[in-house]
Amino acid sequence: MRLVLLGPPGSGKGTQARFLEDRFKACRLSAGDILRTEVSEKTPLGREAGAFIAKGQLVPDRLMENIIETRLAEGACARAFVLDGFPRNVAQANALEIMLRKLASSLQLVLYLRVPREVVLERLGGRRTCRDCGAMFHEKFDPPRRPGVCDRCRGELHQREDDREETILARLGVYEEETLPLAAYYRQRGLLHELDGVGTVEEVRARALKELGRFLPR
Ligand code: AP5
Ligand code: MG
Repeated sequence: MRLVLLGPPGSGKGTQARFLEDRFKACRLSAGDILRTEVSEKTPLGREAGAFIAKGQLVPDRLMENIIETRLAEGACARAFVLDGFPRNVAQANALEIMLRKLASSLQLVLYLRVPREVVLERLGGRRTCRDCGAMFHEKFDPPRRPGVCDRCRGELHQREDDREETILARLGVYEEETLPLAAYYRQRGLLHELDGVGTVEEVRARALKELGRFLPR
């Protein structure tokens, strides 16, 4: 499976990507997660990206494209991948096409998770992420068994720095301006599959699997 997950902040890209990675034995390349690791490890790239992330802006395309190109070239990733959070504008989408061509690969489909703004705000306001393993929870929709503690690894749960209200609004603005045009871009290429992203995690997962089952060759 060679898939891009598209959708606004909080639409469930990361949640569904983790499931699809296991299910389809694909490389999950979550742009935001990769960047946050670089920031926490204080690498040169992380130092450059940190200020953009904190403000809810996109980091420069060349940084992001280099990261994804390197990861796609690792192992068999170009043959089976789930891209979450990349591409995020038309320039990145064009860059992705070129890098895949170089690796003798191509995109099969783009799953576009449609979620209205009020749902996004509710999801992001309550999201809690494990500092150690990156597992995601939600205070209301998917609470951990013990408040503040990760069910999987017992790591500490925290609120992402960019999940403060003003940064969420900035991210939504960037999404509408820069990322949303990708829906038309991929629709034109016949790759876009729209999915209702509202409902429980399991409901959205079932819709995604149904769509993938209809489309992907067995
Ligand atoms: P990134 O980490 O990609 O953030 P985002 O796109 O804003 O998306 P989120 O991770 O906030 O949401 P999600 O769709 O993954 O939802 P999730 O599954 O967590 O990017 C962060 C920053 O990095 C950017 O702002 C930018 O600065 C930079 N960046 C990243 N990519 C870049 C690129 N390509 N170019 C340049 N810069 C880039 O779900 C949210 C919450 O809802 C969770 O708590 C979850 O438990 C819950 N939830 C999920 N699904 C459901 C459901 N169906 N029902 C109820 N709750 C649900
Ligand atoms: Mg995410």
